Amino acid sequence: MDKLLVALDVETGERALDLASALEGVAGGFKVGSRLFTLEGPDLVRQLGALGARVFLDLKFHDIPNTVSQAVDAAVRTGAWMMNVHASGGVPMMQAAAQAGRDAAQRLRRPPPLLIGVTVLTSMDDAGLRGTGIQRSALDQVVALAKMTQTAGLDGVVASPLETAAIRHACGDQFLIVTPGIRSASAGTERNDQARTMGPAEALRAGASYIVVGRPIIAAPDPRAAAEAIVEELASVGRT
Ligand code: C5P
Repeated sequence: MDKLLVALDVETGERALDLASALEGVAGGFKVGSRLFTLEGPDLVRQLGALGARVFLDLKFHDIPNTVSQAVDAAVRTGAWMMNVHASGGVPMMQAAAQAGRDAAQRLRRPPPLLIGVTVLTSMDDAGLRGTGIQRSALDQVVALAKMTQTAGLDGVVASPLETAAIRHACGDQFLIVTPGIRSASAGTERNDQARTMGPAEALRAGASYIVVGRPIIAAPDPRAAAEAIVEELASVGRT
């Protein structure tokens, strides 16, 4: 199922590759975050690519346009399929990122990467935002940053399940929404540290293009069976 992205939040490249092999044909891609990337580097992204896997490189670039362009260029060279930048870096920064993605892909004769904006971190609430000088609500800020992301020509945003419907409404059908925070009977009843969750099918119905699931799969006794149960639930959306 190409809509299921599995977060490889593990400590070693070996474990990540084992999981990727175990989930071959069930997961639609794998998310590599800053810990695993810092420990294992771009070789791991290349190795996952060699297994035929799509990699979402979740490094949340946030810097001046020139530096972010160079980082996006480097990320494309690893073979990553999807990557992200902080939308609060501004439209010129995101435009530079998108241009760098297209240029690098053309140079390497590859399809351009999917570039995704990070809006408001889900660890921030209204009070936290006010502390940074932003007076509007977290949801209004998320929607405003999603629109900025779209204006800059990026492909979509990462959004919590509870923000998905508002972004889908504001940004239309073609905009990608990548949604973590997935929990349910099939996606694990343990919430871990996720406060605002939705089930896999519910998230798709709310407008998610891709769901990101970590612990309910990678910490399951049988990760492949856990992933298959989620895919089954996702498939039910197509039938309804
Ligand atoms: O284990 P779990 O399913 O909670 O993993 C979700 C993944 O999505 C983790 O890699 C987490 O860092 C990431 N994520 C998130 N919430 C966000 C953005 C990213 O949980 N708002």
